[in-house]
Amino acid sequence: MFQKNISLKPYNTFGIDVNAESFAVVTSQEQLKKIISEYKEIFILSGGSNILLTKDISRPVISLCTKGIKTQEFDQDYVLVTAEAGEKWHEFVLWCIDNDYGGIENLSLIPGNVGTSPIQNIGAYGVEIKDTFYQLKALEIETNAFKTFTAADCNFGYRDSFFKREGKGKYIILNVTFKLTRKDHKLQKNYGAIQVELEKTNNSDPSIKDISDIITGIRKAKLPDPEEIGNSGSFFKNPVISKAHFEQLKRSYQKIPFYPAGKNLVKVPAGWLIEQCGFKGKRFGDAGVHKNQALVLVNYGNASGKDILDLAQKIKKTVKEQFGIDLEIEVNII
Ligand code: EPU
Repeated sequence: MFQKNISLKPYNTFGIDVNAESFAVVTSQEQLKKIISEYKEIFILSGGSNILLTKDISRPVISLCTKGIKTQEFDQDYVLVTAEAGEKWHEFVLWCIDNDYGGIENLSLIPGNVGTSPIQNIGAYGVEIKDTFYQLKALEIETNAFKTFTAADCNFGYRDSFFKREGKGKYIILNVTFKLTRKDHKLQKNYGAIQVELEKTNNSDPSIKDISDIITGIRKAKLPDPEEIGNSGSFFKNPVISKAHFEQLKRSYQKIPFYPAGKNLVKVPAGWLIEQCGFKGKRFGDAGVHKNQALVLVNYGNASGKDILDLAQKIKKTVKEQFGIDLEIEVNII
């Protein structure tokens, strides 16, 4: 089942060329259980869309490619939809829209697979998966037993969950169930850029497909396509700072954008901070900062994981010096 010495370049959206000593594509839960009964130290590679590979991997690498979508009636208003871990996230979103199931349309065009979506609680345009998440099924590596996690068990936060903290490396997510609307969809269209598009087309009663199309358009305009240029979406989280710190920054930077983030706290877009530091569109060898969205680091072809990480450290240092803010890396560094 395992192949020897495989380059992982095609298997991570950053396009980083590291070697896997052994590599297997897994298409069923039974196959996975069999592997777990033999190896406890494995590396699960899903869509490869939220990782930066900085070294060769000696543990067996498993590319989880299980497929399938199933529905189950919940009540008159909701349906439960379960997708296997290896389903591509965006294809799953489109499948739900085709079936007129609402709730995840704002998460259109996010790279990656369904199985990793809960780990960082993927989010965009006012919606996170925690908003429609119902439950997930995982394999516990230590016991090789199945376990079900509810939303409360997952302890979701901003780009965060149990699986990024206490549960890190202990479970393999096998499938995820969402509770989606079958009618009277609750559209989340407050985000500025969505409003602009709706007004442009005079659309006062958009469908979930309209919202998905608008978001797909916005993302295509702003974010680089990993098929064309290696990247992992937002490289940093948007930092949360105290109101006092924010007020102090506002004195020097009147136009600083912000989102309220709870009592006495303010979230500031990291992309704006990085742009202010002069990094937007800059290139250092084959590592760079995207020209339309400074929060996204890119690989122009042959950057190593270390090249990208060095650039990230340079950005962190400059933002700290100029704004007194510590940026936190959002992508998993391997
Ligand atoms: N901005 C700049 N310069 C830049 C980038 C952004 O000034 O280079 C400013 C924008 O003008 C705007 C603000 O920063 O005022 C926010 O920008 P944007 O709407 O693009 O969103 P973001 O905060 O940079 C977050 C998510 C994205 C998600 C968008 C839309 C994080 C870490 N990132 O980005 O998620 O698509 O909001 O909801 O929260 C991802 O996680 O990979 C991702 C792409």
